[in-house]
Amino acid sequence: MPKLRWWQTGIIYQVYPRSFQDSDGDGIGDLNGILQRLDYLAWLGIDAIWLSPIFPSPMADFGYDISDYTDIDAAFGSLADFDRLLDAAHRRGLKVILDFVPNHTSDQHPWFVDSRSSRASRKRDWYIWRDAAEEGGPPNNWLSVFGGPAWAWDEASRQYYYHAFLKEQPDLNWHNREVREAMYDVLRFWLERGVDGFRVDVIWHLIKDRQFRDNPPNLGYRAGEQPYARLDPVYTTDRPEVHEVISEMRQVVDAYQDRVLIGEIYLPVERLVSYYGVDREGVHLPFNFQLLQCEWNAPAILDLVRDYEALLPGGGWPNWVLGNHDNHRIASRVGTAQARVAAMLLLTLRGTPTMYYGDEIGMADAIIPPELVQDPFEKRVPGIGVGRDPARTPMQWDASANAGFTRGTPWLPVADEHHGRNVAAEAEDPHSVLALYRRLIELRRRRPELTVGDWQALAADGDVLAYSRSHAGSRLLVALNLGPTPHRLPLAEPGRVLLSTHLDRAHDVISGQVELRSNEGLILG
Ligand code: GLC
Ligand code: MG
Repeated sequence: MPKLRWWQTGIIYQVYPRSFQDSDGDGIGDLNGILQRLDYLAWLGIDAIWLSPIFPSPMADFGYDISDYTDIDAAFGSLADFDRLLDAAHRRGLKVILDFVPNHTSDQHPWFVDSRSSRASRKRDWYIWRDAAEEGGPPNNWLSVFGGPAWAWDEASRQYYYHAFLKEQPDLNWHNREVREAMYDVLRFWLERGVDGFRVDVIWHLIKDRQFRDNPPNLGYRAGEQPYARLDPVYTTDRPEVHEVISEMRQVVDAYQDRVLIGEIYLPVERLVSYYGVDREGVHLPFNFQLLQCEWNAPAILDLVRDYEALLPGGGWPNWVLGNHDNHRIASRVGTAQARVAAMLLLTLRGTPTMYYGDEIGMADAIIPPELVQDPFEKRVPGIGVGRDPARTPMQWDASANAGFTRGTPWLPVADEHHGRNVAAEAEDPHSVLALYRRLIELRRRRPELTVGDWQALAADGDVLAYSRSHAGSRLLVALNLGPTPHRLPLAEPGRVLLSTHLDRAHDVISGQVELRSNEGLILG
């Protein structure tokens, strides 16, 4: 068996830097704050941290609008702080993955300022400029993900530019060779500094149709969905030429040893798997977001795991994501009891797990009073639940004011639940969600069945989802009760309880059938 890489056996933990730990009292998390918490992350047992963007930014989209790709935003610290953090992480055996945002820059980036300055600018073609339609108005029907048309009018140069997200986030023109080279140099800048890889933002958006054809209507659109979903974005996303760009990125990264390229891609699974690369190399891991979006029941989950496993191309390594900064937290999506079962699912499926900060203590979406809303998506498309602030509130470290996150005023409110739900309290409690995560992570590190083993579906019977993981003749059984009613599952062979999500009955030997209590998950070995 080939030796597996760190990003195959390891666990990735997403840090949203604004909300992890503030070190200087400005209410915004920063790199020195993350540095202070590295020992916690090492104790938790994860292998790699992915940092959402830390680069200079006007923060129209909280760092996903970058005005300089090769520096650190002053709110987060400095390049020297970054080097210290990277070094301290590496000394603890933790890898560091940066967020690379190639689809768009900030409108304050010098490239865009130049591009916008005149139609004759040498950088005009670095962005996507078009004349108005003959009858006036935007050149075509393309929509912004964040609501409204994707075209913004520039009065001075009398053309429109394309922005898939905010108008403060103009899209780069990836058909342009100079753009590509400039962005590959950005990758090299960070690779030379020693980063272990990149999570690539909206990678399936990079290339747009050269003929600027209208997107067709989405026939499945339902009232109440976000306005962007009215069209089927076939001419603005998932274009065939994107794979050529990705293979170039992959070559840049592969020139360095043991680095990883992860793609953010929201597509149906049949399309998603093409990002592993078919004719040429793709990303190492196209993020698999199915657990963020699926119905929470046993048959649905069994089907999606089975289909995903079946569709993976040869050599394609699976991965699973349970939470991130763009979606409701797992504890809110499935409830606190099922969040434990979800943790067991994430950490026992085959493939690299990605965790979201705070999920390991069971943080739920916080309630954000209207006057404190920060997310531009919620501001532009209010009231239908697209807001991302609830999942971005400060990490809850202890029961003190502001949960130990800041001595200042936090940029988003700390959730009220922090008095009981925080790292300090849960670290003392042997039955906490945090205790469960640590046990799961420890078991996963110790048992090769869980990292390199095969996955086999056993049952999806009512609320019960059961599968096995086997390696070198040894087999573990995972049985999850996805509901509140107790269930029995017949066992083919006797097994010993290695872990229950209730964190009791370890070592019980069970034969014949196993009784799963309300909302209980078990690993039997
Ligand atoms: C990605 C990011 C999201 C951001 C968007 C635009 O989806 O995860 O937070 O708003 O890209 O950059
Ligand atoms: Mg700060």
